[in-house]
Amino acid sequence: MRWSSVTRSSAPSFAFVALSLVSAVVAQGPTDEASEAAIKDPYQECAGYNYDPVSSQSSKFPTNWQVAQIVPGDQEATDKWNSIQSLVPANIQVKGTQPASLMGDFGGFNYDPSDPDCWWTNTKCSTPKHQGIPADIISMPEPDTLGYGFDDGPNCSHNAFYDFLQEKNQKATMYYIGSNVQNQPLQAQRAVTDGHEICVHTWSHHYLTALTSEQVFAEFWYTLKMIKLATGVTPTCFRPPFGDVDDRVRAIANALGLVNIVWKYDSNDWRADYDGYTEAQVDQNYQDFINTANGGAFTTEGAIMLTHELNNFTMSEAMKFYSQLQGAFKHIVPVGVGYNRTQPYLETNYGLPSFEQYIGGQTTVSGSAVQPQSSSSSASLSSSSQSLSTASQTSSATSGSATPSTTGSSLSSDPGSKSNGAASAMSPRFGALLAAGAFVGMLVFSA
Ligand SMILES: *[C@@H]1O[C@H](CO)[C@@H](O)[C@H](O)[C@H]1NC(C)=O
Ligand SMILES: *[C@@H]1O[C@H](CO)[C@@H](O)[C@H](O)[C@H]1NC(C)=O
Ligand SMILES: *[C@@H]1O[C@H](CO)[C@@H](O)[C@H](O)[C@H]1NC(C)=O
Repeated sequence: MRWSSVTRSSAPSFAFVALSLVSAVVAQGPTDEASEAAIKDPYQECAGYNYDPVSSQSSKFPTNWQVAQIVPGDQEATDKWNSIQSLVPANIQVKGTQPASLMGDFGGFNYDPSDPDCWWTNTKCSTPKHQGIPADIISMPEPDTLGYGFDDGPNCSHNAFYDFLQEKNQKATMYYIGSNVQNQPLQAQRAVTDGHEICVHTWSHHYLTALTSEQVFAEFWYTLKMIKLATGVTPTCFRPPFGDVDDRVRAIANALGLVNIVWKYDSNDWRADYDGYTEAQVDQNYQDFINTANGGAFTTEGAIMLTHELNNFTMSEAMKFYSQLQGAFKHIVPVGVGYNRTQPYLETNYGLPSFEQYIGGQTTVSGSAVQPQSSSSSASLSSSSQSLSTASQTSSATSGSATPSTTGSSLSSDPGSKSNGAASAMSPRFGALLAAGAFVGMLVFSA
């Protein structure tokens, strides 16, 4: 707004008045999925907006980006947690000591080298050692198939990337962080509208094995509730931040009907420009993966590579290497499609194509469009009759109502810096990056 005022102030004409009116309208921000998806300027995309169906419910959710706890007075969550506690193996310790462990610093934690908990972070174990828990998804069942997906969204400025995917008629699995969905609910709606698959990537993006079981439950529960509130659907899949799961975390997820999707290949795109890790190294990681595929490594079983909807760079990399990936794989599909998970959400009126349908050209979803805040859903979590339907609206808006700043040289600032009305000042990703570096050197096992 300031930009237009400055450039036009020498011409106090009808044009200026008209432009100011346009700016005033724009400053209110998008009001629905379509108006958000139409924004092309990444700074405007990240300017923040108030979306009342979500912001009015903030008192029912944990603090944005903070480790989730059951919200005091939330009887539904308490009942659900009580109903599944007996399914959690009692002989698995919380890993490390909070708060350092939240960021992956497990220094001083003594762990049996035989890996009794099937701790992925320790040994890449993916077949649980405790009974009754399904194995992790680490690859794709179909040959020459890439299970395509992106962590950490929705990013406020993802329209260029989602436009690209739309243009290619390419669907993907989006592992959404609950706190990002709270801040960017209309961006989250776009994933459903565009036919992508949404999975849970926790509320606050911390190391899950470091959390108490109740915290793990709350990280999943409130992300499920937030995705439901913002987009109208309730996922049945999740990806642990940093891949950090053990059988305790798996058991809690399984009790909530969540399938665990990890990976075997890592682009390390999130590391670019931190700690001396270069963008050229990320290019090389993509290239190595493509060469591996071209070398015939996936002719009996397809692959999953870790990539991110984290920022401009990670999304640009995905776009840059897309055609090479298309050349290296016969099929690029959302993970759920590769597994014929044609009903990816609890809501039965919404479906994804099967693998056969998708590769035959039917990539679109079936079922009704996004219905945020639908409270009539028959959805319930698998192991109890607890409904996930939205609680009644009573509270007043207290968050998610960021107003775009109209001062300062916004054109040179980071688009992300103006978003996230409810977000804390902390950048969890940056802290996590530091911790991930520290983690490698500090993990101590009893040997
Ligand atoms: C989203 O991407 C923008 C553009 O790179 C970045 O500045 C911003 O920090 C990202 N937002 C989040 C919440 O990660
Ligand atoms: C990255 O930022 C540039 C400059 O704002 C923009 O033109 C481009 O579309 C962005 N790319 C993605 C993938 O968001
Ligand atoms: C998906 O369905 C197709 C067609 O029925 C079948 O050939 C394939 O084995 C199924 N894949 C999985 C993982 O069940």
